[in-house]
Amino acid sequence: MIGVTGATGELGGRVAARLAERGVPMRLIVRDPARAPALDGADITIAAGYHDREEMVAALRGVDTLFLVSGRESPNRLDEHKSAVDAAVEAGVERIVYTSFANASPDTAFILGRQHHATEEHIRATGLVYTFLRDNLYLDFVPFFATPDGVIAAPAGDGAAAFVARDDVADVALAVLTGEGHEGATYTLTGGKAYTLAEATAILTDVTGREVVYKAETIEEAYASRAHYGAPDWEVEGWVTSYVAIARGELERVIDDVERLTGHPPMPLEDLLERYPESWAHLKR
Ligand SMILES: NC(=O)c1ccc[n+]([C@@H]2O[C@H](COP(=O)([O-])OP(=O)(O)OC[C@H]3O[C@@H](n4cnc5c(N)ncnc54)[C@H](OP(=O)(O)O)[C@@H]3O)[C@@H](O)[C@H]2O)c1
Repeated sequence: MIGVTGATGELGGRVAARLAERGVPMRLIVRDPARAPALDGADITIAAGYHDREEMVAALRGVDTLFLVSGRESPNRLDEHKSAVDAAVEAGVERIVYTSFANASPDTAFILGRQHHATEEHIRATGLVYTFLRDNLYLDFVPFFATPDGVIAAPAGDGAAAFVARDDVADVALAVLTGEGHEGATYTLTGGKAYTLAEATAILTDVTGREVVYKAETIEEAYASRAHYGAPDWEVEGWVTSYVAIARGELERVIDDVERLTGHPPMPLEDLLERYPESWAHLKR
């Protein structure tokens, strides 16, 4: 039995759909059953969220492998992750496949990458069998970096990132969840090429027919230009430092794990824009 969290979201939803297509027995652990996908062969169990250890333990009893999607950004995300992992141990789960982040480490510029590192450490310390899928930044987000007036303004300098499509991450997750020999493995999921934001804007321009430009910001400018969103400091710091990690070259390395594990090359930006035209609807004139 595979337990899948995050099935009401983009990545977990894709993984659940792929497992259902193959008839794999699965339990979706969701917060809101009304938004759970209707999939053949899936039970649906409700738990209030990763922080609710008791409900998570109840939801996870009978699950052998847990696909644990990292939680939405919040000030308590690390504690929420630890609570979900501890619940898995208590419920008798044998294996955790966790969606981590490329270059997760205690000193990465990207503050959320530090949380992923701490979550990985917590999982390792449990002694459970684990596999970490360290995703680069999602390729799916690249069109959303651009404002409707056609500007990507970010403190990424001339750095490049090997963005990876969620579809490719889901294909890898399927291979890992249903295959063998992934115990203790850490896979780094990247696209087949690293794009600077200037290169990404050139592709957006070609595909959308609308001029999109990259404006390199200083870190101070990046905080100032995002202030009007009124988002909490921890969230703005997450956004800004993801670009700083690009500027420092932390996300540039291309690794062939997607192709090795799925048998197909990772999706380039042009293909993603063609597959998901709604992602650049805001750029249409
Ligand atoms: N690599 C990247 O560029 C990147 C970018 C953004 C996010 N991420 C991380 O990758 C994860 C998956 O991405 P996605 O695109 O699938 O995100 P998404 O569409 O926002 O889906 C997140 C899913 O996780 C569930 N969830 C979030 N926090 C939870 C919690 N505390 N307890 C229980 N369930 C929780 C959500 O449930 P509800 O529907 O009930 O909210 C939803 O099903 C995100 O949650 C985030 O941690 C990565």
